[in-house]
Amino acid sequence: MEHTSGFGLPAEMLRDERHSRRVLTNRWFFVATRGDLPEPGDMFAFDLFDENVLLVHGPDGVIRGFENRCVHQSARLLDGVSGSCGRRLVCPNHQWSYDPSSGALRGATGMPVDFVDRPPDGFGGLRAISVGERGGLVFACLDPDADTADLDDLQQVLAPYTDPFHLDRGGYRVALHEREVVDANWLVVMVNNRECVHCRANHPGLCDVFDPSSFNGATTPAYAERLAEAAARWEAAGLAWREQAFDPHDAVRVARYPMAEGFASITFDGRPACRRTIGPWHHHDASTLSIWLNPNAWLHFTSDHIATNWVLPLGTDRCLLATTWLVHADAVEGVDYDVNHLAEVWRVTNAEDVELCRSMTAGARSAHYRPGPLGRDERWCVQFCDWIAANAD
Ligand code: FES
Ligand SMILES: [Fe+2]
Repeated sequence: MEHTSGFGLPAEMLRDERHSRRVLTNRWFFVATRGDLPEPGDMFAFDLFDENVLLVHGPDGVIRGFENRCVHQSARLLDGVSGSCGRRLVCPNHQWSYDPSSGALRGATGMPVDFVDRPPDGFGGLRAISVGERGGLVFACLDPDADTADLDDLQQVLAPYTDPFHLDRGGYRVALHEREVVDANWLVVMVNNRECVHCRANHPGLCDVFDPSSFNGATTPAYAERLAEAAARWEAAGLAWREQAFDPHDAVRVARYPMAEGFASITFDGRPACRRTIGPWHHHDASTLSIWLNPNAWLHFTSDHIATNWVLPLGTDRCLLATTWLVHADAVEGVDYDVNHLAEVWRVTNAEDVELCRSMTAGARSAHYRPGPLGRDERWCVQFCDWIAANAD
């Protein structure tokens, strides 16, 4: 497969899912936060190609991953996105049961008495998937022996920014989780996410909330002034803010950005998204801590909520796009926040992006497709495409 730095991804990468599988085997990918499954027994499932992965918050507090497939007749243990399993994970079909900490088979209705104690090879429990949690962010990897040192390095970069939110200690609840199957290639969705050249023409709402300079790096004097003001405020509050873009860790870009004047949170009217503040904040701050993770996620921490967006491939022209909005665990819907008001910016912005990604995916099916050249303000697309190509071997 030929990839040239400075250009988009080659056709083979978009059309042959083995390349994507290799990326997801070679590197960790984002799948949830502790807020998606905050209590012991909580479960959270997602599709990846033809498989379904089940995350389980064990009685010991550890979040683990299993293939969501009963060893008996392959029924889903959790049918849907989220649920709770208590002390036994019971298959709804014939009630075979599993230990939520290890996935080990604990009960096998209708089988000989010693079946559970001496199960035949391959039937002793659920197939484990590599899952690692750092700072409340949950990652998975298709390699059963995935190297967790990479997650430690990632955490070193993120900790100064995310630690003040204490996401790893709980204290958050899901205000809303939405997911959509999109007829677009997941890598096209990610490349679109890595530039804001399309923002002015396609995200009129988002451009009211943020100066497009924030995400582009194409700084105007007015934005530079706003950033300097905000930086002084963050420094006084002891908060890290400087951008670290795929250096020193090649899978993460993180920075704090100011919102436009008059905006207390990421909402179209600028009013707070939630009355309860979170993490280090005791008042609303016109800023976001934004994190872009290779290969599949972008997260925004404001002073009153956290929005996580991530994408995973279902096929070469189909992907899963998921968004979770987290608020303070004590925030009450209808009192502290209105869920439509909280969710409106990413709902609208993601829908705008989905249309662009469908269009680019359809265009890239052409027999005459050639990866196009990327401009100066598309440098994070260059980083992404190079990274994907380097990790697909
Ligand atoms: S399929 Fe799960 S118990 Fe039969
Ligand atoms: Fe966009």
